[in-house]
Amino acid sequence: MTTHKVGYLIGSLAKGSINRRLAKALVRLAPPELEMSEISFKDLPLYSYDYDADYPPAGKAFKDAIAAVNAVLFVTPEYNRSIPGGLKNAIDWASRPYGANSFARKPSAVIGTSPGAIDGVGTSPEFGERGPLVAVGAGVQFETQEDGFEQLARARTLRLPYARTGI
Ligand SMILES: Cc1cc2nc3c(=O)[nH]c(=O)nc-3n(C[C@H](O)[C@H](O)[C@H](O)COP(=O)(O)O)c2cc1C
Repeated sequence: MTTHKVGYLIGSLAKGSINRRLAKALVRLAPPELEMSEISFKDLPLYSYDYDADYPPAGKAFKDAIAAVNAVLFVTPEYNRSIPGGLKNAIDWASRPYGANSFARKPSAVIGTSPGAIDGVGTSPEFGERGPLVAVGAGVQFETQEDGFEQLARARTLRLPYARTGI
C-alpha cells in the first residue's frame, strides 16, 4: 500500500478549538493510505525578512516539517473575515526565503468550521483566489455546509483536493 503523508496546520491556538476537534475527526476518517500528522507553528516568532539570511531553529524545523509531507491541509477558522494572525505568520515563514517557498508544488487544501450558520472560511475572500494561500501556491476548495460534522461522520473517505496552483 502506498502511503501519502499529510501535514495539517490548525489555524486556531485556542485550547478548546473546534477546528482542532474537526482535525481530530478528519484524522479518524482518513483512509489508511493517508498518514496524518500535525505541523505546529505556535513557537514561531513574528516573521521578518531580517531572519532570511539565517532562519532560527523554529523556522527551520517548520520548513523541514512541510518538506517532509506530500500534502498540506489547513484546518482553520476565519477571524474577522480573514486568516488567523498566527496562521498567516506561519504561511509567511514557510514562503521565504525568496525562492525557497515551502508550499511551491505542494498539493494543499483548506477546511474550516465556525459556530455561525453562514460564516466560516468559505465566505472570506482571504481564503479565495486573491488570498495569501493561493499566492503561496496552496489550493482552496470551498463547500459551505451547515451540517458539515454530520456529513463528515457519514463520509467513508477523506479526499484531498489538489491545489489549483503550485503543483
Ligand atoms: C478574533 C475573532 C474573530 C472572529 N471572526 C469570525 C469571522 O470572521 N467569521 C466566523 O465565522 N467566525 C468568527 N469568529 C468566531 C469563530 O468562528 C469561533 O470563535 C470559533 O470557535 C473559532 O474556531 P476555533 O474554536 O477553532 O478557534 C471569530 C472569533 C474570534 C476570537
